[in-house]
Amino acid sequence: MKSVLNIVLLGPPGAGKSTIAEDLVHQLPLVPISTGALLRAEISARTRIGREVAPVLERGDLAPDTLMDRVLRARLETLDPDQGLLLDGYPRTMRQALGLDAMLADYDRLLHVVIAIDVADDEVVRRLSGRRICEGVGEPFPVHIDDLASIMRCRERGGRLVQRDDDRPDVVWQRLIAYHQQTAPLIAYYEEQGILRRIDGSGTPAEVARRTLAAVRDWG
Ligand code: AP5
Ligand code: MG
Repeated sequence: MKSVLNIVLLGPPGAGKSTIAEDLVHQLPLVPISTGALLRAEISARTRIGREVAPVLERGDLAPDTLMDRVLRARLETLDPDQGLLLDGYPRTMRQALGLDAMLADYDRLLHVVIAIDVADDEVVRRLSGRRICEGVGEPFPVHIDDLASIMRCRERGGRLVQRDDDRPDVVWQRLIAYHQQTAPLIAYYEEQGILRRIDGSGTPAEVARRTLAAVRDWG
């Protein structure tokens, strides 16, 4: 396997991109970059970027490409050339995909593999409309409202359950529409380049993580 891998995780909202990323970084020398998390940090810090994108995220739309380019470039600047990249949630439009190729070239990097995670829309809605984040004590972790054991674990450690603003059902649908209209076409784009690997995103998170790791290893 090549020493510095650059990987994109592509998939609808709720496909499990961030869950897979958390697992993968324990197995491979990769730095995870979630553009959604970067934007939420800007919103929490009430920066100019945060104020601009807050209403966009609240509606479930995509932030402007030019702004996303700036956000990603600023993050790439901080990376050591020896660190591999695990992009979670970028690119999401054809314009971003083209921009990414150019941006990686600026840092002497190549995109090696794109993992497309297949999950049906009704499963996305089930996962996201039922998701709560256990916050307040230690690292926040996601909980599903049907998973009583996790809810108890949260309560026992003194945490509180918070819903992500964009996990309201109407916003989840808008995020799905944005995905199908603007992001799904990237699957064909990367397939043509011969770097796409499709994986089934159903089953337990551990099963999906195993499939992802196998797809990455298969590439290398
Ligand atoms: P972002 O934060 O990237 O959100 P998203 O991709 O829409 O959705 P999630 O992060 O919820 O999904 P995920 O695939 O990471 O799944 P997860 O592992 O969390 O982006 C937020 C917003 O920022 C966007 O809507 C947009 O406005 C903006 N934005 C971000 N990037 C942008 C860009 N490049 N351009 C423009 N705008 C951008 O899992 C979801 C839930 O399911 C969790 O509760 C998890 O525990 C559970 N779960 C995971 N795997 C499984 C499994 N196998 N079985 C059952 N449950 C599972
Ligand atoms: Mg995510």
